Amino acid sequence: MHVRSLRLLAAATALLLLGGAAPLAGWAQDIDTSTTSIVDPTPSDTTVDADVPFVRTPQKVVNRMLELANVSEDDVVYDLGSGDGRIPITAAQEYDARGVGIEIKPDLVQQARQQANLVNVDHRVEFRQGDLFEADISDATVVTLYLLPDVNKRLRPKLLEELEPGTRVVSHGFDMGQWEPDEVVQYEDTYLYLWTVPKVIPPHLREPEEQ
Ligand SMILES: C[S@@+](CC[C@H](N)C(=O)[O-])C[C@H]1O[C@@H](n2cnc3c(N)ncnc32)[C@H](O)[C@@H]1O
Repeated sequence: MHVRSLRLLAAATALLLLGGAAPLAGWAQDIDTSTTSIVDPTPSDTTVDADVPFVRTPQKVVNRMLELANVSEDDVVYDLGSGDGRIPITAAQEYDARGVGIEIKPDLVQQARQQANLVNVDHRVEFRQGDLFEADISDATVVTLYLLPDVNKRLRPKLLEELEPGTRVVSHGFDMGQWEPDEVVQYEDTYLYLWTVPKVIPPHLREPEEQ
């Protein structure tokens, strides 16, 4: 097995175990048809270099994340690393919010767009293919994450620099190092973290944290 494949396998295991998500068997089949249906639950393109492998947030957990962020129709919900698009799509379906997904893998972007079409929220959601570290996220009022601990820490300076004070950030499974969350919720077999971007950013949080 290649080193890169091993790295991806280790990261996927971390997401599933540390993030407390669905068991491995559910990875490709975690479909809750009561609120959404997935067009094509095949695994994503493994040839694209990503910081985190594709593992879905279970639909129940998606709902809880959006509830924790207190999403309303006035919000613009960004999911950084949006996978099959379920978080922005649910934000649009259930809360009439606007949703934006940033995803590096073209096949997942396509899948998310198809799904948005299928459930008639394509006028309220947008999926942009690209690197989340390069994306313009300045109009987000809510940001959701299901990444990895080191990726969250690397992302923290960008979030604090580019997001307006008052923007809520919710992370599935992983904290953000020294940035203390406002709330930590245990839900199903995982933890969800909520932060609010402050008006005054403590200088040490602007720096990338030692991994
Ligand atoms: C663990 S999955 C989460 C998917 C979705 N947010 C969810 O919660 O169901 C992480 C996603 O981030 C994407 N990703 C990883 N690195 C990325 C990067 N640098 N820029 C954009 N997307 C990235 C992966 O392709 C994958 O779809």
